[in-house]
Amino acid sequence: MNSVLNFGSINIDHVYRVDHFVRPGETLNCRDYHRFAGGKGLNQSIALAQADASVVHAGKLGAGDGWLKTLMAGKGVDTRFVETVDGPSGHAVIQVNSAGENAIVIVGGANRLIDENDVQRILAGFGPHDYLLVQNEVSAVPQILLSAKAQGMTVVFNPAPMTLEVPDYPLDRVDILIVNTVEAHSLTGESEPERICEIFRRRYPHAAMVLTLGSRGAIYCNPQMQIHQPAEQVNAVDTTGAGDTFIGFFLAELIRSADPNSALAFASRAAALCVTRQGAADSIPHRTEIEMPITE
Ligand code: RIB
Repeated sequence: MNSVLNFGSINIDHVYRVDHFVRPGETLNCRDYHRFAGGKGLNQSIALAQADASVVHAGKLGAGDGWLKTLMAGKGVDTRFVETVDGPSGHAVIQVNSAGENAIVIVGGANRLIDENDVQRILAGFGPHDYLLVQNEVSAVPQILLSAKAQGMTVVFNPAPMTLEVPDYPLDRVDILIVNTVEAHSLTGESEPERICEIFRRRYPHAAMVLTLGSRGAIYCNPQMQIHQPAEQVNAVDTTGAGDTFIGFFLAELIRSADPNSALAFASRAAALCVTRQGAADSIPHRTEIEMPITE
């Protein structure tokens, strides 16, 4: 069976529901406050597991936050490489406005303590049948991309959050790049999806790209094909984790079916369900729910 090794962040999300995002100089009361499990890495691992993929998570958290590891294991994620450190876990401060949009500040904490030794030690057990997934919330991303490709793995990169360093990463080692329009603009200088796909194909003729367009859906492109999947229209309560849900379900279904059409449709339905619920990891649906009509 193909496994996905996800080198990913593990965060505690502090979520503040507000009427509008706080403005410079303003002090704002929130409507409510919740603490959730999150992190793009943790969310994507849980999405993969709930979409029935075999997923091994590699990441770090503070010694007092074992509940996050227990939660992941309970959702079906293999947590043998989730390791504890003496410092604090990563966390996120998230405002969610009345339209369900979010504004996020992250603090790396333990997520930034992954080093080259961890990368070599953990990757040693994986090979050409396996997938490597990584986002941009952990340290050592360039080493992860280089070493995973050297092991013959299929490399999937979600450069979120985008930073100034990403264009200098070894992106030629990436087999599937998953970006939103903001990230794609930073990499290509273009905003128009057709132009983004054109540039991507020219630069990386061996690779595929998934371009997520929010309420306009998503595009899959490689040198041979381009597919557009419209988004399902739902009333968004909280969009946090929707991108992560999309990625986990897309990859799980691509591995299962080898069909990007069905992977896009499956992912789009999962993301639509996710935005009708509060929180990040807590709002990720299970594969069995994808078949049912969405109730809001
Ligand atoms: O993609 C959503 C995630 O981004 C949140 O769970 C938060 O932790 C940040 O990493």
